[in-house]
Amino acid sequence: MLSAFRLPTRTTITPGALSKLVTEIRELGVERPFLVFDQGLSETRWPPIVRDALSESCDEIQEFSDVDPNPRVRKVDRAGELARQFDADGVVGIGGGSVLDTAKIVSMLARNPGSCKDYEGKNLFANKPIPFIAIPTTCGTGSEVTWVAVVSDSESRRKISIKGDGMYPSLALVDADLIQTLPRSLISYTGLDALTHAIEAFVSRRSNPISDALATRAITLIMNHLEPCVNDPNDASHRSEMMKASTLAGIAFGNADVGAVHCLSESIGGLFDHPHGLLNAQLLVPVMRYQHDMVRKKLDGISEWASSDKMLDQIEQLISRLNVPPLQSLAIPVESFGEIASLAERNNSNASDPRNMAASDYRCILDGLH
Ligand SMILES: [Fe+2]
Repeated sequence: MLSAFRLPTRTTITPGALSKLVTEIRELGVERPFLVFDQGLSETRWPPIVRDALSESCDEIQEFSDVDPNPRVRKVDRAGELARQFDADGVVGIGGGSVLDTAKIVSMLARNPGSCKDYEGKNLFANKPIPFIAIPTTCGTGSEVTWVAVVSDSESRRKISIKGDGMYPSLALVDADLIQTLPRSLISYTGLDALTHAIEAFVSRRSNPISDALATRAITLIMNHLEPCVNDPNDASHRSEMMKASTLAGIAFGNADVGAVHCLSESIGGLFDHPHGLLNAQLLVPVMRYQHDMVRKKLDGISEWASSDKMLDQIEQLISRLNVPPLQSLAIPVESFGEIASLAERNNSNASDPRNMAASDYRCILDGLH
């Protein structure tokens, strides 16, 4: 299952990277940008800064700021339709995973007809998406360097993935200054999502030596810098290391895929709309303990930890110190466990997991947490 490593996205990771937007938008030849962000960000200083940068070379900008957490098909389609009507020739997304995934799909829908649902799967669109510039404002999504976008389908109450070679962002501007305005709980949850990306990529059946190098580096950075970053988001060095880690983890899972933690969290998120990062933070250790025998050897190879047992203990303690509420606090009805387990088994990433996970395995993990 080994696959070749790739990253077609031109990626700049440095504090202040946002200032490059003015020249980058010119170089891409974008004249009619479609700007995507959400209400949470509209209260910060970032949208006016992006607007000003775009205005330097673009006469008209179309904005879409109506992005919900766990974006839904209908709203993403509406954004796509607006981009078509505006005749957008580029998309700029600034935000967390929901915003970047929405913007990524809009860049595809701008040149392809119908609903995003029509493109569930891989490479199902005929026309090349318009250029997409991704500017993350959380330290977790990784969407700025992957070809996939996830959207919630209200009808089937599940999350669908849309991916394709042309859906990699043209450009990622990863600027640690942008997480300064992020609430501390979101730094925790998104940082733990990044940790999940790195660990799942590392133990994945699809991992390769390059994704392994990125994943292990990301794990070390997150274990060393997430907690201090949460405690003091004004500390530039911790912020910067977390932002770097998030993108490295994104590149790793963009190549190696994720596994059982995401299979479960996406199933629960699709049914009950709970935040993605929170669910991963709650599920990471229980899933890793469940499949420890399958991944022990590989995890033991990470030199920073004396053993994978110690590593798991440290991750568990970190999650506890970050005050992540347990899964029980979400009161997920036990009657839905069967459906969650079966959705997790059918998730595309299930095949990448190091252990053959059947619905009964997922059910066993859920029962253990009840
Ligand atoms: Fe994730």
